[in-house]
Amino acid sequence: MYLLCLFSIAFAICCCHGALSCPNLCNCYFGQDSTEVICHNIPISVFPARGVPRNTTRLTIQYTNITKITGEDLRATPLLKELHLSNNKLRNLSTDMLIGLPHLHTIDLTGNQLRDLPSRVFHHAPLDSLALKNNLLSRAEADWLPSDSNLTWLDLSGNRFQKIPAGLLQNLGRLITLDFFENKLEDLPAGVLDPLTLLERLSLQNNKLRFIDPLAFDTTFALSYLFLQHNRLEKLAPTLFQTVKELRYLDLSGNQLHHLPAGALDPSVMFVDLAFNPWHCDAKMDYLWRWERKSIELHQEETKAVCSLPVMLKGRPLATLSPEELGLKID
Ligand SMILES: *[C@@H]1O[C@H](CO)[C@@H](O)[C@H](O)[C@H]1NC(C)=O
Ligand SMILES: *[C@@H]1O[C@H](CO)[C@@H](O)[C@H](O)[C@H]1NC(C)=O
Ligand SMILES: *[C@@H]1O[C@H](CO)[C@@H](O)[C@H](O)[C@H]1NC(C)=O
Ligand SMILES: *[C@@H]1O[C@H](CO)[C@@H](O)[C@H](O)[C@H]1NC(C)=O
Repeated sequence: MYLLCLFSIAFAICCCHGALSCPNLCNCYFGQDSTEVICHNIPISVFPARGVPRNTTRLTIQYTNITKITGEDLRATPLLKELHLSNNKLRNLSTDMLIGLPHLHTIDLTGNQLRDLPSRVFHHAPLDSLALKNNLLSRAEADWLPSDSNLTWLDLSGNRFQKIPAGLLQNLGRLITLDFFENKLEDLPAGVLDPLTLLERLSLQNNKLRFIDPLAFDTTFALSYLFLQHNRLEKLAPTLFQTVKELRYLDLSGNQLHHLPAGALDPSVMFVDLAFNPWHCDAKMDYLWRWERKSIELHQEETKAVCSLPVMLKGRPLATLSPEELGLKID
């Protein structure tokens, strides 16, 4: 009798009123001011339109075989705030996908097969976070995002970009974090980062950067964390970071640097990683040697620069060298 009661109550809630519905094989959580739907690793190849509660605020469909999602699918959930679609088989998005979603601020499209996107695809919703990581993108058009975009976080890592999409960044004056690691970038020209005056974190590691224009960071005044490790940099301009007065952390490990010009880490770099570069430990290391001594004194932080040449000093950390070994005249 008790069981029967329980069953009829459950039936009444789920089926008669249709209130606490949930798509087949998915999990739904009904909170006080949020409704969450999670469809994780289930055998579907089309969007699970049936049963998604109308007041869903957070929708996650991940590790499935769905290949597309339409504006119509999403208009059934007008209160949506977050849309997580990572690791599906999405190949394209539709222009009208976000129409009628006035609260949507986060979209995660990581790990799909997006090669190109239609124009105005991310207009219509007030996005602040957008992840397009691990797709097949090699270009991005300026009009994907509106010119008054409030995006603060953009993740384009793990794609096929050879150039920074300057047009797109033009619209992103509010950006705080930009991830571009594991692409095929070859250079960082002047001007492309200029609109990003609020940018605090820039990830460019694991690209093929050989060249950074001396003016590349001219107006990124707020830049605090810069990741440039595992590129092909052979030199940096002495004035590269001159206008970046907040730079706390700079990772240059795994490049082809053999010297740093005097002044390169002034005025404000606090922590720098210089491991795995072929440093030439000669008198031209004067600046870096002094900089590192000071850094150790102030923060107990080493740069991890290790000599590659001359042969006699090979394998010695720069910090352990005496002025005489570097051929410096200390008075
Ligand atoms: C969503 O709808 C369900 C079922 O009607 C309700 O229990 C829940 O409180 C609603 N959630 C919100 C955030 O309105
Ligand atoms: C997706 O399709 C592949 C190939 O048909 C299959 O092996 C895999 O199990 C499917 N994934 C899910 C989550 O159903
Ligand atoms: C993606 O969809 C848009 C229209 O929605 C279409 O113009 C474009 O050709 C499609 N791209 C690909 C690669 O299928
Ligand atoms: C960005 O924020 C401003 C101020 O809150 C707002 O007026 C504008 O519509 C927003 N832009 C977008 C594309 O949502």
